Amino acid sequence: MNSNVRPETMERITTPELANAFIDEQIKEIKEQVGDKKVLLALSGGVDSSVVAALLIKAIGKQLVCVHVNHGLLRKGEPEQVVEVFRNQMDANLIYVDAVDRFLDKLAGVAEPEKKRKIIGAEFIRVFEEEARKLDGIEFLAQGTIYPDILESDGVKAHHNVGGLPEDLQFELVEPVKLLFKDEVRVVGKALGLPDNMVYRQPFPGPGLGVRCLGAITRDRLEAVRESDAILREEFAKNGLEGKVWQYFTAVPDFKSVGIDENGKRTFKYPVIIRAINTKDAMSATVENVPFVLLEHITNRITSEVENVNRVLFDLTPKAPATIEWE
Ligand code: XMP
Repeated sequence: MNSNVRPETMERITTPELANAFIDEQIKEIKEQVGDKKVLLALSGGVDSSVVAALLIKAIGKQLVCVHVNHGLLRKGEPEQVVEVFRNQMDANLIYVDAVDRFLDKLAGVAEPEKKRKIIGAEFIRVFEEEARKLDGIEFLAQGTIYPDILESDGVKAHHNVGGLPEDLQFELVEPVKLLFKDEVRVVGKALGLPDNMVYRQPFPGPGLGVRCLGAITRDRLEAVRESDAILREEFAKNGLEGKVWQYFTAVPDFKSVGIDENGKRTFKYPVIIRAINTKDAMSATVENVPFVLLEHITNRITSEVENVNRVLFDLTPKAPATIEWE
């Protein structure tokens, strides 16, 4: 699939049968393209890179080398799931890089959102480059580019592109899902046997929780974001909102407020902000009308289970005037 233009005759992949036909065709094309050479893939655990990984594992097995960089800004359980699904279940060649300290050190004291994004992006490339240099005989780089990335027409910048590698590390690209739309990638992922919570995952920004731990990132607030997000996701899933609400998450600002604990003692802790929105293309968004009792329940859980938090707020602002993320 060398063209970057989706043929008008290409059928939309909506069924397992169509997905299987696509998978068979891609396996053939991948084998033809890479022969017995090795392929490198940055595997974030997001839908696109996971589907590309699963496809390549089917096509070329251990010739694929997946690199999962844990930058410390992933959601609760995500790095563990990548290892479980790809190394343990699919028997993939997976290099797990614990780069948490490295990222957090680089980000220490940096409060400006664009600077944070740049640091995260640049450091990601650097870690990936270091891993690539340790490997011998890599000739190809696989990427989870999808059709909207090529069209650049959707507001979700949710792809991990490893553009920006130095000249001497320019590999030939393998991009098996580049002509697919997101919903088709999900159908293919399901047909490849990936777990539902990987395939039907809500959008998650490349810089991850880094843009939800507002201002300069600190470990205590980062943990508060991660833990409160896990509670929110769990409660949305339990209450039938998973898959119904387009995107929902928590953010933790870099200020504290006064509260009181169960013994009547004054506390001074962070607030957690809940955001739940619906949209078609992420260019504009409306706020989900979350049942008040559920918000109360989530508030109780977050304030009692998450350390350093004494207050929960719900963001009522549509896009525009707000953006979906806070940074
Ligand atoms: P905003 O905040 O711009 O978000 O209304 C629109 C959509 O894009 C996601 N987003 C990002 N995705 N890298 C990404 O891969 C980013 O830097 C980034 N910033 C925002 C956001 O989660 C929402 O779905």
